[in-house]
Amino acid sequence: MRQKLENIRDEAIENISKVKDLDQLERLRLKYLGKKGELTQVLRGMGKLPAEDRPVMGQLANEVRYLIEEQMDEHKKNLEDKLLNYRLKLETIDVTVPGTNIERGNLHPLTSVLNEIIDIFIGMGFEIAEGPEVELDYYNFEALNIPKSHPSRDVQDTFYITDEILLRTHTSPVQVRTMEVQKPPIKIIVPGRVYRSDDVDATHSPIFHQVEGLVVDEHITMADLKGVLDVFVKELFGERTQTKFRPHYFPFTEPSMEVDATCVTCGGEGCRICSHTGWIEILGAGMIHPNVLKYGGIDSEKYSGFAFGLGLDRIANLKYGIDDIRLLYENDIRFLKQF
Ligand code: PHE
Repeated sequence: MRQKLENIRDEAIENISKVKDLDQLERLRLKYLGKKGELTQVLRGMGKLPAEDRPVMGQLANEVRYLIEEQMDEHKKNLEDKLLNYRLKLETIDVTVPGTNIERGNLHPLTSVLNEIIDIFIGMGFEIAEGPEVELDYYNFEALNIPKSHPSRDVQDTFYITDEILLRTHTSPVQVRTMEVQKPPIKIIVPGRVYRSDDVDATHSPIFHQVEGLVVDEHITMADLKGVLDVFVKELFGERTQTKFRPHYFPFTEPSMEVDATCVTCGGEGCRICSHTGWIEILGAGMIHPNVLKYGGIDSEKYSGFAFGLGLDRIANLKYGIDDIRLLYENDIRFLKQF
């Protein structure tokens, strides 16, 4: 029995020293000290020994058990320390390492100017409407009092998809679309993308943006048109900006006009931007033609209104001092970052 106990002791100590993880150690504990463990088995055989040998063997067995337990505890502590150190190392954050730089984006200049314009008109009680970019000839031309023979229908300017379907050349088709579904008072602006078959240069792009305005109610006069646009221009370009209303022709308004503002760059002195006139044209406008009201199903005896259309790209360029419309569409990050 002594031999057995000593074998168990030596083997256990040897095995414990080789253990690499806590699971393995637990398995060894069961192997030697568990209910069915080797040492326990030997102790069970104690009853068969002569009575005088029992105390000696009992003591030896206890020593062996104690020794194994001690070795296991010590080894366990070592393993746990190692594990802890390993975890700490993994989870350490080196606060001195330089961070990754996350670049902050910004709004496109067209978006910023549009937001500003929207704010100004919302402040005057306007609502925002939208319409399709792929449009019917009917809304883009016919219902705007532009007869089949009118030069602005020229295929040179208009992207036709079929005889009856085209890419809208302005945001004005939303005028009649809105009148069809909304009874006066109507007070909307319509921001949107428009298309014309122009060759690309510093001031032309086949895709550009307009903001349409439409007001229909009883007793609307040209004084309302002038008042609204004057406030708009002053809010957008500054209190000292003046406006000038020049006679013009649009088929869908009568009378029609173009509106100039004193040059943003020189304040009216005359400079390269305004071709030394002190004025820059910023939008087209007029009192809605009775025929257009009729197309919209609105009684032109009872109601009147005005409409205007401004080129967003041009306004953005003036506001930010950009001298080439192409820059707005090239999406060069070095350009866009500046706004
Ligand atoms: N639709 C016209 C254009 O594209 C602008 C305009 C809108 C003029 C509304 C008068 C009234 O040039």
